[in-house]
Amino acid sequence: MTSPADLSLVGREFSPEEAQFNDLIAEDSRIEPRDWMPDAYRKTLIRQISQHAHSEIIGMQPESNWISRAPSLKRKAILIAKVQDEAGHGLYLYSAAQTLGISREEMTDQLLEGKAKYSSIFNYTTPTWADMGSIGWLVDGAAIANQVPLCRASYGPYGRAMVRICKEESFHQRQGFEILLELMQGTEEQRRMAQESVNRWYWPALMMFGPPDDESPNSTQSMAWKIKRFSNDELRQRFVGMLVPQAEVLGVTLPDPNLKWNEEKQAYDMSEIDWDEFHEVIAGRGPANAERMRRRREAHENGAWVREAAAAYARKQAA
Ligand SMILES: [Fe+2]
Ligand SMILES: [Fe+2]
Repeated sequence: MTSPADLSLVGREFSPEEAQFNDLIAEDSRIEPRDWMPDAYRKTLIRQISQHAHSEIIGMQPESNWISRAPSLKRKAILIAKVQDEAGHGLYLYSAAQTLGISREEMTDQLLEGKAKYSSIFNYTTPTWADMGSIGWLVDGAAIANQVPLCRASYGPYGRAMVRICKEESFHQRQGFEILLELMQGTEEQRRMAQESVNRWYWPALMMFGPPDDESPNSTQSMAWKIKRFSNDELRQRFVGMLVPQAEVLGVTLPDPNLKWNEEKQAYDMSEIDWDEFHEVIAGRGPANAERMRRRREAHENGAWVREAAAAYARKQAA
């Protein structure tokens, strides 16, 4: 008997379908929409994938803010392509969640009614052009660190969506790095702008990995289900390890005076994250929460005619 992937089953007999599910997880096979799965596994995935989808869609806002003001035609074209990619990521992820039996309308309603969350990073504002660099380098960078292991998530449609998303995220990260690199090789004022922006985005980017492991109650079950492969703190460490040499190339300083390689731990020591700020933003009191939701609702209302036209067309085709 394999040890159960569903921790609520520890210590009791499994039904044949539970046993089959456990075996699939144990042998690193994928769970597909046709397979039986525990209710809690389905619910966890719906919550995680739809939150992820909402984050991609809301995440378009802080950057679309700069499309009309990008400093050159080349930068404008790149930024448009990047923001468009994020819309595509939202769509793959909504589709993956739909295979679990929730409709797109339901997920959208949950977001618009404030019942569903999205990544709190997108509640920060983008006052300078350098923020396009910091978002690509730090926010898309953190997303990659989080999402590369998700390419092996046990739920098939999610893992496959992540493979494609991660390829595009690595382009996003490089374009952000390149924006910062150009600024850092520019005038004194440009260098100051880049550094100031990195100072603002560094800590919120580290918060993207979620609360510390000892305050992350759902992680153990998600890891047993092989949705999650590494803990929040492990991923955060990895990300910092990736940033340090890149910051050196850029010539920016990461805004943590206590950041230091610890030979014994084989990891970086760092300052304590301001978790009060994290909880404030999650609770809806970040710099731009209200604005993000207002614009999302407005865009949804403005798009009503598109949904109606598409539905009318589908009915006509069916008839
Ligand atoms: Fe994305
Ligand atoms: Fe991205």
